[in-house]
Amino acid sequence: MFDKHIMEIRESQIIQLPKILDRRGNLSFIEGENHIPFAIRRTHWIYDVPGGEKRGGHAYKVCQEFIVALSGSFDVIVNDGKEEKTYHLNRSYYGLYIPAMIWRQMENFSTNSLALVLSSTKYDAGDYIRDFSLLKELKKV
Ligand code: TYD
Repeated sequence: MFDKHIMEIRESQIIQLPKILDRRGNLSFIEGENHIPFAIRRTHWIYDVPGGEKRGGHAYKVCQEFIVALSGSFDVIVNDGKEEKTYHLNRSYYGLYIPAMIWRQMENFSTNSLALVLSSTKYDAGDYIRDFSLLKELKKV
């Protein structure tokens, strides 16, 4: 689906996924390095989020992520150190790609929302940047 240039993506962006319409129910799917620009090494999901709670509030040095609202809706706020953007995710046939070194926060979770997160690396606590000013310093912005 993507040319080599997508492997060079430096910016967060919405990526539409294949959607197989069927009167028996619709189907979407994701192939690593095809529909999203990385090989999938890990999957986790966020659910049962109490009203008003926020998740995230960090960046990764290396890890890239792709986030899909499998059910319900929520906002993902991304910040590259200079500019902030809010993405409202509310469909299971598209998702938000977030490259490394981008601050993200998830909020405004609807009741029963389910956030699927695909990652390019295994879990590594040392990959987290939990201080926004450190992110800016590392990015020299
Ligand atoms: P964290 O990534 O901080 O959650 P969020 O960004 O959604 O707010 O992770 C919360 C806790 O879960 C933290 O103690 C680490 C653990 N965790 C794992 O053990 N493996 C994983 O793959 C993830 C994403 C988190």
